Amino acid sequence: MKIIGTGSSIPHRVIDNNMLSTFLDTSEEWIYPRTGIRSRHVISDERLEDLGRDACLKALENSGLKPGDLDLLICSNVVNEYATPSLSSVIAQGIGVTCPCIDINCACPGFIYAMDIADSYYKAGKVKNVMIVCAEEPTRMVAWNDRSTCVLFGDGAGAAVFTEGDNFKESKLYSQPDVEKIWEYRLLEPSPFVTRKKEVNVPMQMKGREVFKFAVTTSVRDINDILSRRGLKPEDIDYFLIHQANMRIIEGIRQSLGVPIEKFPTNIEDHGNSSSASCPILLDECNRKGMFKKGDKIVFSAFGAGLMSAVALIEW
Ligand code: UT7
Repeated sequence: MKIIGTGSSIPHRVIDNNMLSTFLDTSEEWIYPRTGIRSRHVISDERLEDLGRDACLKALENSGLKPGDLDLLICSNVVNEYATPSLSSVIAQGIGVTCPCIDINCACPGFIYAMDIADSYYKAGKVKNVMIVCAEEPTRMVAWNDRSTCVLFGDGAGAAVFTEGDNFKESKLYSQPDVEKIWEYRLLEPSPFVTRKKEVNVPMQMKGREVFKFAVTTSVRDINDILSRRGLKPEDIDYFLIHQANMRIIEGIRQSLGVPIEKFPTNIEDHGNSSSASCPILLDECNRKGMFKKGDKIVFSAFGAGLMSAVALIEW
């Protein structure tokens, strides 16, 4: 398969670090040096499904395909307001398609997990054109009085359209289950038959330092694995599109690989961490800036709750 179009859509409301410090015990001086984040886009009057729809429509326009050309729509999402139907079904209705829809919840590596699934459909000869959309609203998962999590995240949607081709070279998915590192708990409707003791909703909890170490070590391992399997070295790669979780994580990965900064485009400074949407939003921004030329080798690497990580190599 190969990518023939990209799109993204982000909320209009921008919250910078100084705005956060009006209601939280935090500051630009704490947040920026530790994370690389200056501001983030947060959902206010938008709905996540509308951002997802807009990202898909922009990706379709960029690809030259029409909604009716799609054979499969995969949506990566961690949390949204619809428990059912799937967010992919809601977005499918928004863009006017009737193809099969699948939701996946693979946290921050969701875009790479979705590409891996799509690649299997291509190899099985089941599809010609596939849409992957990652739509995330992590600012609705955190407690806004918890300065250790809420300052890190931003919302948005990124999408990519794929067709037949051989530019998608390889992907690999990894899992190292450890629920306690990042989790959020949501109660379901009460039932007269549930006999467990009363439970409560718990907003996102994260062991930041441990996740930080996991992120750097797994990303470096995943990237080195895929490069050695393909007989490539870091210097053979034109761009590394890394999950935008923390600039220090990205910098740690870059330094371990010994790659110049120009090969590591970032947008964390004004987006924060938008979970699985971060890679396709960054991809779309780079694409629309005209950064990629035919034949460029691009590595994606992402990591997050699960704990899960994933890596992929494509050729533009
Ligand atoms: O998508 C993947 C998901 N998550 C991640 O990738 C996150 C990975 N982890 C990180 O990015 C970093 O661990 C954080 C940015 C979350 C935290 O940075 P840190 O250098 O590991 O700080 P820390 O959690 O060890 O906290 C250091 C201090 C603490 O104060 P004390 O106990 O030393 O007095 C915190 O209470 O900083 C305090 N602190 C803050 N202070 C001001 C934590 N958050 C804030 C804040 N503003 N927003």
